[in-house]
Amino acid sequence: MFRGPLHFNDSSRTRPHVSHVLHRIVASHPPVAAEGRGLTIRLADGREILDASGGAAVACIGHGNERVARAIALQAGRLAYVHTGFFSCEAAELLADLLVGHEPGGLARAFFVSSGSEAMESALKLARQYHLERGESERVHYVSRRQGYHGNSFGSLAASGNLARRRPYEDVLPRNFSRVSPCFAYHGQLPDESDAAYVARLAAELEAEFERVGPQRVIAFVAETVVGATTGCVAAVPGYFRAVREVCDRHGVLLVLDEVMCGMGRTGTTHAWEQEGIAPDIQVIAKGMGGGYVPIGAVLASRRVIESLQGGSGILAHGHTYQAHPVACAGALEVQRIIAEEGLVERSAQRGAYLRAALVRQFGDHPYVGDIRGRGLFQALEFVRDKARRTPFDPSVKLHERVKAAGLACGVGTYPIGGTVDGVAGDHTILAPPYNVTEDEIDRIVERVALAVERALP
Ligand SMILES: Cc1ncc(COP(=O)(O)O)c(C=O)c1O
Repeated sequence: MFRGPLHFNDSSRTRPHVSHVLHRIVASHPPVAAEGRGLTIRLADGREILDASGGAAVACIGHGNERVARAIALQAGRLAYVHTGFFSCEAAELLADLLVGHEPGGLARAFFVSSGSEAMESALKLARQYHLERGESERVHYVSRRQGYHGNSFGSLAASGNLARRRPYEDVLPRNFSRVSPCFAYHGQLPDESDAAYVARLAAELEAEFERVGPQRVIAFVAETVVGATTGCVAAVPGYFRAVREVCDRHGVLLVLDEVMCGMGRTGTTHAWEQEGIAPDIQVIAKGMGGGYVPIGAVLASRRVIESLQGGSGILAHGHTYQAHPVACAGALEVQRIIAEEGLVERSAQRGAYLRAALVRQFGDHPYVGDIRGRGLFQALEFVRDKARRTPFDPSVKLHERVKAAGLACGVGTYPIGGTVDGVAGDHTILAPPYNVTEDEIDRIVERVALAVERALP
């Protein structure tokens, strides 16, 4: 299955390799991944790991796709770079044709950048510019949600409600951002509260926050359509997005949906918002767009937003050196063509249902798995100490870290995170295999995850 020389287990090396990479845990030396094929990553020491989360829900067509590798090489050889102030390129034009201009939601133009954070940063600025072009310069405030994540740059982190990632920078983040409650039924919906009553309560909270700030001062409401890493594949209850759309519209506030993690087929429809009966004014996508083959993200803007620019200054007041990078666009274009040709969005829905059923069979009665949730191939397990009371484990147990370590020891990579409930307490792990994962592979994933969970529990 795998081929090629492996530098890091080369027996002719006499001295151990000392890393000069600044790793996420500074003193750590993570195992070196050498090759990837389909669902499997082979490490330099020969171990094989089932990549059951596609890293962070990125690898949506699996690893090692030869077609994508060829498309990237071809583009790099033909035209690696042009500055978008002077030229466009064919790959960017074709990718934009594929993404927008025909959507029921009225998304009209695509702006390509290199990551989810850059895309969110661009979306926040585009939203501000929309109001400026319309003469509403008093709109200076963004509202987002607690327990959501939108990126690590200053603006996108200011919009984020992820406590752990905000904490070191809290005092230097922009202040013109505030947050309301997320729609998180497992922890937020009251025992006797209907979905409709829960939605009404959250919509009233959003309305009250607009009133507190002054609705004429609000630029946008920012939310992940299905919350990803921070709370673990949390979809809103029915009617929530229709209700917040209505509140935004009433006050002329733009709705910015972050589908960096949940978008581009991951939840069983190309866009997660298609399942909500609404469309955003501005949408942000990234991970599943390039499937990990290229660093790429995008802002998709509705006709209404584009028309405000066209009818105003006519200039997008934002740009990056590497925007619409030809190699990144060519890689993403090939990934998206493969998804379309092989019907992989529909497959994500079907295999997602299979994965969910397998998880329910395995963990439905598990005393420490409180919730199994998600959409399509975006599923999470939330771990609890007391299932009846939905009480999390003590954060000092660091259960998510134990699940990660045990998973790797059992040959399966999931995406475990702590702070599920309130940014401090709670543990979950995400499963997000590629859309072309087979049923046999799903069975193997669930088997290994079950083993890992048993080993990880205190
Ligand atoms: C919902 C969401 N938005 C934004 C981002 C930031 O994307 P990136 O890490 O590519 O900058 C992420 C990354 O995990 C994400 O999950």
